[in-house]
Amino acid sequence: MSSLVTVAERAGLDLSHLPKHVAIIMDGNGRWATGKGLGRLLGHREGYQTLKGVVEAAGELGIGFLTVYAFSAENWRRPESEVAGLMKLIEAAMREQTAHLVKKNVRVQIIGRLNELPSSLREALEEGVSSTAHCTGLTFCLAINYGGRAEIVDAIRAMVAKGTSAEAVTEELVSEHLYRPDFPEPDLMIRTAGEMRWSNFLIWQAAYAELVVTKTSWPEFTGKSLVDALVEYQRRTRKFGGLS
Ligand code: FPP
Repeated sequence: MSSLVTVAERAGLDLSHLPKHVAIIMDGNGRWATGKGLGRLLGHREGYQTLKGVVEAAGELGIGFLTVYAFSAENWRRPESEVAGLMKLIEAAMREQTAHLVKKNVRVQIIGRLNELPSSLREALEEGVSSTAHCTGLTFCLAINYGGRAEIVDAIRAMVAKGTSAEAVTEELVSEHLYRPDFPEPDLMIRTAGEMRWSNFLIWQAAYAELVVTKTSWPEFTGKSLVDALVEYQRRTRKFGGLS
């Protein structure tokens, strides 16, 4: 079987010009499951299998940062059983994967309001972060109880708490007060399952990101799907408001 790098090269991907940071909205787990007559939680479980493959794929291709939307601040509005199932799944996944992630040299990071999460999930996440802190390969960031507007509110609160004057507030200063000012801004945002919106995900940082929306639902997304999105990204001309 060809390695993913060979597949990527055959697809015309230039591995020396990859986006530094890829963000993914993993959508369509529920529709994938109900379409097969299964419960929505089975869709999320299948989504976890996809995520494992995509993390491997991103590491293999040499992407520096991958951030995925695992649970949004708005997802609390879902039925209690689905919320509880997702929390349990994320906790079990973190515990199950930590040793493997260390072996693969993947550094885990988390963004979101973690203080509002169940304590056992928080502990599993903190354990994942601390065990992989020395890893130097892919940085894999999970957005959990994350909302882009909430992140901006938290940044404003931090600035106000420091007594920052109105005149001192600049775009750079706001960026410095976001959850991870040390991460490069995402160059590419991928959304699965066809919806054309960015759902409050990294709204400040992704202001100039290229959006690639695929109809493929998240459980069916593969390493090759990631390669296809990267090829599409490389076809775009990024202008940042100027001329190409
Ligand atoms: C969106 O699909 C997906 C989510 C809200 C959760 C994402 C979670 C996973 C991929 C599970 C594994 C995650 C980790 C970190 C282990 P949806 O339910 O909105 O799908 P729908 O739009 O078809 O209903």
